[in-house]
Amino acid sequence: MATKLNLPGPKAQEILKRDAATISPSYPRDYPFVMDHGKGTEVWDVDGNRFLDFAAGIAVCATGHSHPDVVRAIQTQAEKFIHISSDFYHEKWAQLGEKLNEIAPFQEDALCFMTNSGAEAVEAAIKLARYHTRRSRFIGFYGGFHGRTMGALAFTASKAIQRRHFYPMMTGVVHVPFPNPYRPRLTFDPTKADYGDAVIQYIEDFIFQYECPPEDVAAFLLEPIQGEGGYVVPPDSFFPRLRALCDKYGILLIVDEVQSGMGRTGKWWAVQHWNVEPDMVCAAKGIASGMPLGALIARKSMMDWPAGAHGNTYGGNPISCAASLETIRLIDESYMANAAEMGEYTLDALAEMAARHPSMGNVRGKRLMIGVEFVRNKETKERGKDIRDHTVHHSFEHGLLLLGCGRNTVRLTPPLNVKKSEIDEGLEIFESAVTAAEKKLL
Ligand SMILES: Cc1ncc(COP(=O)(O)O)c(C=O)c1O
Repeated sequence: MATKLNLPGPKAQEILKRDAATISPSYPRDYPFVMDHGKGTEVWDVDGNRFLDFAAGIAVCATGHSHPDVVRAIQTQAEKFIHISSDFYHEKWAQLGEKLNEIAPFQEDALCFMTNSGAEAVEAAIKLARYHTRRSRFIGFYGGFHGRTMGALAFTASKAIQRRHFYPMMTGVVHVPFPNPYRPRLTFDPTKADYGDAVIQYIEDFIFQYECPPEDVAAFLLEPIQGEGGYVVPPDSFFPRLRALCDKYGILLIVDEVQSGMGRTGKWWAVQHWNVEPDMVCAAKGIASGMPLGALIARKSMMDWPAGAHGNTYGGNPISCAASLETIRLIDESYMANAAEMGEYTLDALAEMAARHPSMGNVRGKRLMIGVEFVRNKETKERGKDIRDHTVHHSFEHGLLLLGCGRNTVRLTPPLNVKKSEIDEGLEIFESAVTAAEKKLL
């Protein structure tokens, strides 16, 4: 059994004090982990305590911490040149465009706009959708998270704190319920339709009829599996129906794969689980193992904006491109397959664990994008936020890094190259934490 660590240790305390003096208090830190170094799925804090990292820097460290091949690629590139700006050209940028074109989830060729972050990829998608369609309106989903810049924030609706006092937002975005099968918001007859159908029906019969004519809508923008909003997987009917709705009205389908993409769900893109081709994909996080990089990947026929319409200084940063190329190679060679195998293994183990625990209301996800929703009662589904929070903190104190999401869910997103022994060790700590939380709070 993992022993209780004495956290934060003295060195961590000292850094926390300095951080509080100069760093914005807006960052949503949940517990005081102060990193010193990491290797694969293991990380150590400044006081020498070891942890398993099932948060992976918010699903960013796809190849684990400081993978030697990624480190070498970064070092080699840094010695050649660090920056030249998007006014010029370099080979790694073109090479990354070729790679992303190869793995883009549509038949048509892709063109890519490189960014520094996920939010910036979303901003680019919003602008390109307006530019290409000459339409101004969008449909987003409750529970969605797309970043915190003003365009992306107009879509983000996973927690009210993210929007409080920031109005007015970019105009033109209408929100509809995400098809969350565990907590459906819309009434529907389950003998006639599933909840994916019900949401599509609501958009057609209600949103399009009363509020937002479909011919004004440039695009739907949504995560195939909601991340920040609670790791919510839609019913299988949803994406094919949404694609058909888009085709019917000439609306673009933009998938935000910032968290769900790059092999985390056992496929390059989560939307591929439903055999649906989007028109644009927003990527970031896992794309470069932690170097800041994002990309808007669009069908070639849609990226029809001219020089000067959109740009940035750091787009195609050579070090980020070098890290990304190495990351993609590793994911392709074996880590995506490992994510599929370890993901199934973890989901099965958690389903068994849920049968032993009254607070584990719903275990869901695809491969290594896993959420556990905590409840006070499995029948009523009363939210168990306190149990979730206690579980996360207890896990930290016993050497496991986890992150919450949604109002009462924990996410498990280890690196894609996590080992089975590490999953077993992490799950043992997790189960002890759930047991402790239930004993104290149920
Ligand atoms: C689905 C999704 N989109 C966009 C973003 C924003 O990315 P970034 O924080 O890199 O701006 C996030 C970040 O969590 C995300 O999960």
